[in-house]
Amino acid sequence: MKKLYIETYGCQMNISDSEIVVSILVNQFTVTKNQTEADLILLNTCSVRDHAEQRVRKRLREFNALKKKKPTLIVGLLGCMAERLKEQLLYEEQILDFIAGPDAYRALPQLIEKAANGETGFNLLLSEKETYDDIDPIRYANNGVSAFVSIMRGCNNFCSYCVVPYTRGNERSRNPKTILEEVEKLIHQGYKEVTLLGQNVNSYHWQEGETTIDFADLIVQVALVSSDLRVRFATSHPKDISDKLIFNMASHQNICKYIHLPIQSGSDSILQRMNRVYTRAYYLERIATIKRILPDCAISTDIIAGFCGETEDDHADTLSIMNEVGYSSAFMFRYSVREGTKAAEKFDDDIPDDIKARRLEEIIALQQELSLLSNKQDIGKTVTVLVEGISKRSENRLFGKTDQNKACVFPRGNHKIGDYIKVRITGCTAHTLFAEL
Ligand code: 5AD
Ligand code: SF4
Repeated sequence: MKKLYIETYGCQMNISDSEIVVSILVNQFTVTKNQTEADLILLNTCSVRDHAEQRVRKRLREFNALKKKKPTLIVGLLGCMAERLKEQLLYEEQILDFIAGPDAYRALPQLIEKAANGETGFNLLLSEKETYDDIDPIRYANNGVSAFVSIMRGCNNFCSYCVVPYTRGNERSRNPKTILEEVEKLIHQGYKEVTLLGQNVNSYHWQEGETTIDFADLIVQVALVSSDLRVRFATSHPKDISDKLIFNMASHQNICKYIHLPIQSGSDSILQRMNRVYTRAYYLERIATIKRILPDCAISTDIIAGFCGETEDDHADTLSIMNEVGYSSAFMFRYSVREGTKAAEKFDDDIPDDIKARRLEEIIALQQELSLLSNKQDIGKTVTVLVEGISKRSENRLFGKTDQNKACVFPRGNHKIGDYIKVRITGCTAHTLFAEL
């Protein structure tokens, strides 16, 4: 059997997509971790920021040397960067034999066959329907405990800064029957945790005859498959997070009390310019509702520093909303203009790099304090952790995650990967909880 080496960039959706790709190619290729023995190299790419694209371009130059040594090596580029840059990418990066967009993975065997005959190829068709729902992803690189399950694809939100609606196409939901079948299979294989994935899971919608299933219904169906299974989800757009979902989380112990709810900016005028369609007050009301119904729920966020026209006052609003919410963690970025988006067309990318960098640093420094504060509040508590692996620092310690999605390290005892264990939190840093059995 030939060997496939695959690298994945960007979001959890891309990790899940790479598992679909490996499954589509399973009859021809086995996965290798060693790039030098590969017959096929695939890069599953991300376009969300310029930095992500530059990393891939650098990697392609490194693969050039491999291809010189082994001319039969096939190199393909998948995902958002293929979809964004289209055929032009094949001219810019001569090493590439083919490119395929996120909805074109079923065509990979043909693209690879063409490449083996010396023909370059591309398939960038976006689909209204493709959800790969009949494909059983191969979890080639995970820990056997926690798996991603894709429940929808695409995005209809058109936040003005974001390429995703252009690279991943329209939003479409996957048949719930196939989602539940996939979850059942994972349980048989010994998995203990699933994360339901979509660009905006809260707009999940499935209609069959008279019945409609929304995300709040779906997550309950998944949670009921087994009480021994932890259920997580990502990502939620604040505009769509319903009371029904929050109540359903409260009434099912195995739905993790953790919500990733990207705010992006704390300023109303910036939110409006970003086309986020909510206000600061609306967002804070959602947070208050979550805290009322789920007092133990951890909340994390995404933040963009230095969006077009952002004043010092707007930036101060972002810092103040971070303080008000008290996020347990955050992904923080400096704004990167993406060609073709509404922001690129309508607004000037007018914040100088040094100011973007300074604001981002202030946001990161504040989050560091908030993460530490959030972790310190856990000291003394007894919590359940799902064991995911052996600590990198010591053979005698295990690591896992709490219900609130916090990383936790504790002594090994007689425990093994996949066990749920009760631990008492004794200390922390901003990023890790330390516990005893
Ligand atoms: N510049 C910087 N960050 C961005 N994100 C999306 N588009 C951009 C951009 N053009 C961030 C948002 C989003 C996360 C996945 O990436 O915070 O939630
Ligand atoms: Fe990157 Fe967004 Fe594409 Fe995910 S969907 S790979 S974050 S551009």
